[in-house]
Amino acid sequence: MNALTPIAILISGRGSNMKAIVDACETGVISARPVLIFSDKADAAGLDYAREKNIPVHTLSRKGFTSREAYDAETADIIASYNPSFICFAGYMRLVTSAFISRFTDRIINIHPSLLPSFKGLNAQQQAIDAGVKVTGCTVHIVREEMDAGPILVQQTVPVEENDTAQSLAERLLEKEHSAYIEALRLCCDNKIRIEGNHAYVSSS
Ligand code: GRF
Repeated sequence: MNALTPIAILISGRGSNMKAIVDACETGVISARPVLIFSDKADAAGLDYAREKNIPVHTLSRKGFTSREAYDAETADIIASYNPSFICFAGYMRLVTSAFISRFTDRIINIHPSLLPSFKGLNAQQQAIDAGVKVTGCTVHIVREEMDAGPILVQQTVPVEENDTAQSLAERLLEKEHSAYIEALRLCCDNKIRIEGNHAYVSSS
């Protein structure tokens, strides 16, 4: 059996994607091992689950840092000390600096609740409703400097119903987010992804 791929997961809040990833590691659905759960918020609800599972937890407040660069440098040092192969943003509500990204080139993964490149940024579900689209979805992608951009690993779709609110749509999407993230991580941990420029190619072998 291949060794388990060490992964770090970064959260800012509820952590349902983190929980799905942790559970998928535990059940062997993905060949990975969470070595660190990091949060910029000491009171992020998802941290309780990480602690329950005895996964190392580290929190670092942005307060007290004079710049984003300084905060990200410290964050990157903490993450690097755990030697993760992949860094999974799972509701990590910070825009990271270019130095952070280049320290972990092509190893930072993010999930966004829309079919990118549509509806970047906050409130993607409301943006989809406002645009009147009939189908939306979620995207798991490699993080690049531009917000909500970068090689796409996995997308999954959900219908937008006529009576949907941002909340009902978000709930329906969340289920897909969890399965999409797990599918993407499975591909990454099994070494099935090749990144070239802005494209992620999945190898079949
Ligand atoms: C998800 O909708 C994710 O796509 C977005 O933030 C939300 C985080 O939810 N980036 P959770 O903390 O994983 O439950």
